[in-house]
Amino acid sequence: MELRSVEELMDLLYACRGAWDTPDRSGDPVDLHDHALQTAALLRRSRPADKELQVAGLVHDIGHLLQPSDDAGHADHAADAVHALLGDRVAHLVRLHVPAKRYLATVSPDHDLSAQSTLTLRAQGGPMSHAEAAAFEHDPLADDAITLRQADDAAKVVGLDAGVLEDWRTVLGIVAAQNSHLPNSRLRAVD
Ligand SMILES: [Fe+2]
Ligand SMILES: [Fe+2]
Repeated sequence: MELRSVEELMDLLYACRGAWDTPDRSGDPVDLHDHALQTAALLRRSRPADKELQVAGLVHDIGHLLQPSDDAGHADHAADAVHALLGDRVAHLVRLHVPAKRYLATVSPDHDLSAQSTLTLRAQGGPMSHAEAAAFEHDPLADDAITLRQADDAAKVVGLDAGVLEDWRTVLGIVAAQNSHLPNSRLRAVD
């Protein structure tokens, strides 16, 4: 599916409240809504000028909601859903959040992964081979994808207050206005 407006994306993010990365709740200890807010808040702190990176952090796991039980494909589902609305860079950063995990598992095996992320790493292809890692490093967005991944892995704290979703509506509107492939008339969520 393809999201056609900031409104539609905000509705989907609100629907992440009480939704989990695994339908039986055996996975990470925070729901997708809290995880999205924590990831975006960490990136806002470490990269205050990079709204696209923050927004990529906000939406990176919506694939779990779009197609539950497809862990291996969740990054691609999310990237495909936001591509037209948020543009190439955000979509690519979202797509890279699983490869970045596989990369970090190879180059810094002591990098902190949650129990659930360790479990799903196998289904996602396991650590990268050295050839795969070298190819990953050539991606112009590799460094940003690693920054996103580090925020992702730190954003699983039960009870941490990371603000409210509504704070992101304006930022999503700005990123969409600058990068969207959709006709302008569809982007008016922040007038
Ligand atoms: Fe993910
Ligand atoms: Fe995540």
